[in-house]
Amino acid sequence: MAEHYDIIVIGGGPGGYTAALKAAGLGIKTAIVEKEKLGGTCINKGCIPTKALLHASSIFQALQNSDEFGVSTDFISFDFKKMQNYKKRSVKAYRKEVEELVKAAGVTVIWGTATIRRGRTVEVNGPGGKDYYEADHIIIATGARPVMLKIPGEDLPGVLTSDRLLASDTWNYDRLTIIGGGVIGVEFATIFSALCSHVTILESEAHLLGPMDSEVSQALEEELRRKGITIHCKAKVKEIREESNQGLVCVFEVNGEEQTVRSGQVLMAAGRAPCLEGLMGQDVDLKMEHGHLKVDSEFRTSEPGIYAIGDVAAHTKLAHVAAAQGTYVVEKIGGVGHTIRLSVVPNGMFVKLPVVPSCIYTEPEIASVGLTREAARACSMKVSCGRYSMSGNGKSIITREQNGFIHLVFEEYSGTLVGAQIVCPRATDMISEMATAIANGLTAEQLMLAMRAHPTYSEGIGAAIENYFETKGETKQ
Ligand code: NAI
Repeated sequence: MAEHYDIIVIGGGPGGYTAALKAAGLGIKTAIVEKEKLGGTCINKGCIPTKALLHASSIFQALQNSDEFGVSTDFISFDFKKMQNYKKRSVKAYRKEVEELVKAAGVTVIWGTATIRRGRTVEVNGPGGKDYYEADHIIIATGARPVMLKIPGEDLPGVLTSDRLLASDTWNYDRLTIIGGGVIGVEFATIFSALCSHVTILESEAHLLGPMDSEVSQALEEELRRKGITIHCKAKVKEIREESNQGLVCVFEVNGEEQTVRSGQVLMAAGRAPCLEGLMGQDVDLKMEHGHLKVDSEFRTSEPGIYAIGDVAAHTKLAHVAAAQGTYVVEKIGGVGHTIRLSVVPNGMFVKLPVVPSCIYTEPEIASVGLTREAARACSMKVSCGRYSMSGNGKSIITREQNGFIHLVFEEYSGTLVGAQIVCPRATDMISEMATAIANGLTAEQLMLAMRAHPTYSEGIGAAIENYFETKGETKQ
């Protein structure tokens, strides 16, 4: 007889383990099926290892420029293997936290690969053979994996995904070509250029970071070029060739003109696709939409009792989005009120505002939440903006990181904050204040009620609000 659970979660990444922990907290009998390690892409081969390498490489970069601050270093170098070991220890430490939380909550972990069969039966192929489990509810949280472009040479040794690059111990990155100027592309460019690699980005669109506010992507492009990174936008990559003494040669076209770039390694960072292999048994047919599992606004798939959350279903592939969706689904199943909002419709407005902070760990950092000015105008919302250049911010002057700005977008009549884009050090932390403001429908006046400590980068938020009032011809006392 198959063992029965109230909820079986397939996939132990941030979406899956957050859902399981929430369920266990509500007294729901829960199991996670996982084929590799708890923590998923985020902890094992995504956010955590990448940010660890960003941290290590930024220390190396800071030391190269330390003379400005009166700190002399005769000789500085880095040991890539040691850096990778530090990254591995960070990953392990964080994964251990999650493993302990899961254990303490009483969630069962079933090791193996899950296939969903008819009647919400889950077949698990594990180290000990095949087992069957039954559930009232199944939550699919299997994530996504890097897409390899189908071009000649994509299978050459040295053509890597972010998974393989993060796992490599030996330095072979004096010249690195990155195909794709999205989030992964620009973060890896930041790491390797800080480690003195000659980095080239080939991006098919007109700008890096396509969905970002155009001023933000323009500012990032300028900053990356200033660091010595070569950027080719509107680049159509045709093939990768291996040439003796040349390493790998990427052949690409810009405006019909063929060009080449040579490097030791090529990173494919042209997007991620849902992990669905073997997930659906022959007797289960979950509907797909635009290459992802189709879900409704409650994350229900086309089969009753089966939900899908995170990268396998969402176009916004972010760990915190997966976790929020997992929480939302479990609260719905458990019949308790929702504690998290993915979007809000503030009083008197008919437009839904996304409350999803998006953070990019370049230097300076980039963070945004809610609507950009263009997005607000596209949904016919009248807006006024407050802007501030970080060149005059005290903390930025101290740290010599003045190439940043803050844009705040307010709905014209009510003064409610509907969006924020921040480019400066610690932008990824500062954006939380803006997300809280949007989730609670706060206005510019309400945001001004709290003082911001001096000297901090956050003072820039206060200055941007002041600028909004000045632009509207209102003076705040
Ligand atoms: P992405 O969708 O962000 O960017 C892919 C880029 O590759 C796009 O700019 C696209 O125009 C370009 N591209 C596509 N085909 C191409 C081609 N043939 N030649 C040249 N360029 C091409 O995908 P990415 O960077 O792989 O990241 C995957 C997901 O992981 C994203 O959804 C991202 O949000 C998430 N992620 C989030 C991070 C964060 O929050 N800091 C960090 C890393 C990843």
